[in-house]
Amino acid sequence: MAHVSGVHFLQIPGPTNVPERVLRAIDRATIDHRGPDFGKLTLEVQDLIRPVFGTREPVVIYPASGTGAWEAALVNTLSPGDRVLMAETGQFAALWSKLATRLGLEVEIIPGDWRHGVDPGAIEARLAADGAHAIKAVAIVHNETSTGVTSRVPEVRAAIDRARHPALFLVDTISSLASIDYRHDEWGVDVTVGGSQKGLMLPPGLSFNAISLKALTASATARLPRSYWAWDEMLPANATGYFPYTPATNLLYGLREALHMLHEETLPAGFARHARHAEAARRAVRGWGLEILALDPREYSNTLTAVIVPDGVDADAIRAVILERFDMSLGVGLGKVKGRVFRIGHLGSFNDLMLAGTLCGVQMGLELAGVAHGDGVTPALAYLAAPAAAPVLAAV
Ligand SMILES: Cc1ncc(COP(=O)(O)O)c(C=O)c1O
Repeated sequence: MAHVSGVHFLQIPGPTNVPERVLRAIDRATIDHRGPDFGKLTLEVQDLIRPVFGTREPVVIYPASGTGAWEAALVNTLSPGDRVLMAETGQFAALWSKLATRLGLEVEIIPGDWRHGVDPGAIEARLAADGAHAIKAVAIVHNETSTGVTSRVPEVRAAIDRARHPALFLVDTISSLASIDYRHDEWGVDVTVGGSQKGLMLPPGLSFNAISLKALTASATARLPRSYWAWDEMLPANATGYFPYTPATNLLYGLREALHMLHEETLPAGFARHARHAEAARRAVRGWGLEILALDPREYSNTLTAVIVPDGVDADAIRAVILERFDMSLGVGLGKVKGRVFRIGHLGSFNDLMLAGTLCGVQMGLELAGVAHGDGVTPALAYLAAPAAAPVLAAV
């Protein structure tokens, strides 16, 4: 493989660019995970991570990808044959529902067009019709990474409450956590699922369950088989700083560093940074004369933008030319929108010039791929350079 000069632009919506500070933190000797230093590391990480979920409750950390934490949320709280209400917001909602079905749960899916988030009214109507309380959980994806649509979690919570339904509320925040405002306790979420490789600026390999008291109580009687994912094994060990099995020690060094960085920037400043970059990206898309997949501006994602290509154009051909000529990876269209969209990731360790480079790469790629387009870079840069916009620096 030939040497490629300069930095690869990893502009998929996760895994994201891992900052130097995190890489350096991981690059240390592995320590004894039963020794005293490790216990201190776990307890420090737990204290630092709770505010990121907006919770005072325990957050379980698994040495697993996000899919593991999806499974953990279900097997710890539910029993075989339990009914779970989900919403078809995109590929990740579809995959979570498939996983639930494989576990022996009865999944009911509210159909969607992959251009909108969860419809709180539809959730309310379905729960209101479930007088017998056969539905045991509502499980949704906060930020659909396949579509760039962010569902309004507090409105879904309010819908569950209006229906006076006791279902557990499970939310996947894998591509929103630490990038888009999220409040596990305040929004009455029972299990929040997170992953390391996006807003947390880490490599893949860690995933999370934030757990409410209601979820913990449900886990005492839930009957789906579980062992590796079992909260009742994890929580007592975690409380003293340890794990029931070998944890991902070096990723935990990285997690500690990443959490310090997030708190140094402050969560609100990080959310504002993501919002500003997302707005600039959307201005670029409009300048190109292309369409954003998300239809409702209230649901625009601040972590990625999915761009629809004109009829007759293959989105993957544009991505391929951009990778080949400019060494930049963009997100592929997944599932139903394969070949119809490409996705620009603008999350994690990211700043104005990284976004400018990303948008320039896309515009040059459109040109090379022969896609008719306008100038999106100029309006995006004008937005970023507007004097009113406070400079927001990405952590390095
Ligand atoms: C919203 C969402 N949920 C779940 C997953 C699955 O996580 P993983 O691929 O880490 O198992 C992803 C992965 O991109 C995701 O974006």
